[in-house]
Amino acid sequence: MENKLIDPFQRAISYLRVSVTDRCDFRCVYCMAENMTFLPKKELLTLEELDRMCSTFVGLGVEKLRITGGEPLVRRGILSFFQNMSRHLDSGALKELTLTTNGSQLFRFADDLYAAGVRRVNISLDTLDEEKFARVTRWGRLPQVMKGIDAAQKAGLRVKINTVALKGFNEEELFDLTRWCAERDMDLTFIEVMPMGDLGNEDRVGQYWPLSDLRRQLASEYTLTELTERSGGPARYVRLEETGQKIGFITPLTHNFCESCNRVRLTCTGELYMCLGQEDMADLRAPLRASEDDAVLENAIRAAISLKPKGHDFDYSRQRADGQMTRHMSHTGG
Ligand code: GTP
Ligand code: 5AD
Ligand code: SF4
Repeated sequence: MENKLIDPFQRAISYLRVSVTDRCDFRCVYCMAENMTFLPKKELLTLEELDRMCSTFVGLGVEKLRITGGEPLVRRGILSFFQNMSRHLDSGALKELTLTTNGSQLFRFADDLYAAGVRRVNISLDTLDEEKFARVTRWGRLPQVMKGIDAAQKAGLRVKINTVALKGFNEEELFDLTRWCAERDMDLTFIEVMPMGDLGNEDRVGQYWPLSDLRRQLASEYTLTELTERSGGPARYVRLEETGQKIGFITPLTHNFCESCNRVRLTCTGELYMCLGQEDMADLRAPLRASEDDAVLENAIRAAISLKPKGHDFDYSRQRADGQMTRHMSHTGG
């Protein structure tokens, strides 16, 4: 498509992540402060505006749409948004419509999401221990998430588990989590904790467990085969020969993947962030509201993409003021 979005470093933008709400029913310690102030509802793009925004991106060559939050399934009416977006799957313009969720509401939504064309969900889960789960999410209930995972699999959705690697928290669960996912035929991706948001007194440096270390531990039990295929996301994958399962590693800190970045992120207020780890953003809500003419929005999107930086700036070795993003993960949707 000659209409495609190409950034200044010749990267084609084919993946749009959309945070449809900054709210969440959990407060994961690495993601949110306990007493978060959320945006007033009137600040949010309406579902109709989100549809128009996403559809414009699809018209510009976006093939993968991942709905995130906060927790996307707590946004009222979100199912109708999925149902409406599925027209782009039917037309072939969109290759994948998917979401990243904490799983708490999946037991209610799994069947309808499948019917709307979703085939794969990424579910965040950092521990298999009920008490630890309640601690890391501050009050989440593990059985409810397990019910959601079961419902997703029953509905025919492929499940990938996202686990944030946290030193002193889930290190000793590495093999349990791996086995548990293998038994359920689910892929598993580990994520290095990223320094996003001011969360009060969380010790980011203390929490940081480099995935190179985690990978060494896995290699002591399993035979790891490097896979060259990518999912269109940031993870690198290995296969464990003994179980056949795929394990992903998202390593923004130890192994930066910016050179092949294909994505941008839209916030629930219509800001487009060109990179998770940079402050560069463009307001798309104003051009969206200024005119019914999609060309106005398209031009604003192209202008924004021309500002996409080469890479992120995360760095634990520097002081907070310049090494940590003050923005919360839930704002840009991970
Ligand atoms: P797949 O389609 O399954 O590959 O999903 P994904 O990894 O693209 O999406 P998911 O929402 O599961 O994201 C997993 C983690 O990757 C989250 O913690 C995201 O914040 C992180 N992530 C996604 N894209 C980027 C990126 O461009 N830069 C950085 N630093 N992290 C990213
Ligand atoms: N660092 C790494 N991953 C994070 N997530 C949320 N906050 C952080 C952080 N600071 C993860 C969630 C979810 C995904 C969208 O982002 O666990 O899997
Ligand atoms: Fe909610 Fe996900 Fe953030 Fe946890 S990581 S508080 S589940 S948005």
